[in-house]
Amino acid sequence: MQLNDRFGAPVSHGDQADIDTLGDAAELMLAYAPDPVSMVKSLITKSPDFIMARCFLAGAYLVASDKSRQPLLRAEYFELLRLADRANDREKGHIRAIGLWLDGERYAASQAYADILNEFPRDIIALQYGHQTDFLLGHATSTRDRPMRVLNHWSEADSQYSFILGMQAFGLEEAGHYAVAQKMAERCVELNAGDSWGVHALAHCLEMQGKVEDGISFMLGCEEHWGHDSYMSIHNRWHLGLYYLEKCDFDQALTLHDAHMQVTSSSELMDMHDSAAMLWRLQLDNVDVGDRWQVVAENYAKVIDHAYMAFTDLHAMMSFAATGRHHEAQAQLNVLRAAAMGTSDTANAIGRAGLPFAEGFYAFGCGDYATAKRKLAYSRHNSHLIGGSVAQRDVINWTLIEAALRDGDTAMASAILTERTVTKPHSPLIDMFARKAA
Ligand SMILES: [Fe+2]
Repeated sequence: MQLNDRFGAPVSHGDQADIDTLGDAAELMLAYAPDPVSMVKSLITKSPDFIMARCFLAGAYLVASDKSRQPLLRAEYFELLRLADRANDREKGHIRAIGLWLDGERYAASQAYADILNEFPRDIIALQYGHQTDFLLGHATSTRDRPMRVLNHWSEADSQYSFILGMQAFGLEEAGHYAVAQKMAERCVELNAGDSWGVHALAHCLEMQGKVEDGISFMLGCEEHWGHDSYMSIHNRWHLGLYYLEKCDFDQALTLHDAHMQVTSSSELMDMHDSAAMLWRLQLDNVDVGDRWQVVAENYAKVIDHAYMAFTDLHAMMSFAATGRHHEAQAQLNVLRAAAMGTSDTANAIGRAGLPFAEGFYAFGCGDYATAKRKLAYSRHNSHLIGGSVAQRDVINWTLIEAALRDGDTAMASAILTERTVTKPHSPLIDMFARKAA
């Protein structure tokens, strides 16, 4: 008899207790709570032929956006190939997605996760991993459309419904549908205040509309629910910091950074990105951040040769440019120039966006503002190729504005500032830069 997981998707495994444990892990993953990966590793030790558990673990490595997880992903993939004859159609879809990702076919892998949902719309694991590949690929419309296609297979009667709404709200926000996204994110958080991805979606909605005071009030008002025991807690605090930056409360932003975003030698890449992105923006706003960059740059120096995620490369270059690490910066540029050759998805992302951004940020750090301006202006509308969110990639726009100002091109700076006033009409930060441009 075929068994289903608690979400309603079929599993080839025959042990209900194991399937329930995987369900627990999937719910932790949806909540960005610790520690589903350890839980599933233990499950696989107990039941090494549990195919869906291995698909889950491999997917966690796949979406980690860290090249150091690739050998682990490949090892899981080989185990899955060994078991593939016993896999059901749902599981074969996961194995296909993993294989495509390992082959460098990133967009095809993302689509393979989407294909699973056509037949199994209650496969919440395929939905979440597909959603995360959309994020890694900066694929705003797919981020919007993927949850949309399964939404009518879920309802508020499902205890996991907030997670579906959170993904849907984030996708709508990334694609620019702020009003409907905000409404959906608010409903998500009403249903489950501890849904840290839903909190994150609402933070994005308020950020993109320049609703700074609403954002601060919301984030602080429910901090007890998202501020601890969540892998999103650092990034959500980064979002809180963005509001402080927008209202030119730089002291508060720096205090928040020091309390929650400071990097250590064992920090994960995603957490390093939040620190780098905050420090870089503070420096653009003429804040002295002291020696806070040093450990950040030391960590990034260890991944110069990865050229795996252009989003990582950009933040690494921020740290090298900010600390005057010319040797590391040049080494990274050489790696990126080599990686940009060819026609793979990664080569395209690096060539069209990752490399010019790295060159532009390095030029900015060297005081060559004309080059920085040219590199960033030319490529900023391809920035989605490096992945991450619109709010995260906005650092490219701010750097371009400051490069234009320092290059004496106040006309360009003013023009880009004017773009921003459409969605953020009452921004003290825009006003501050506009005064500099004037
Ligand atoms: Fe975010």
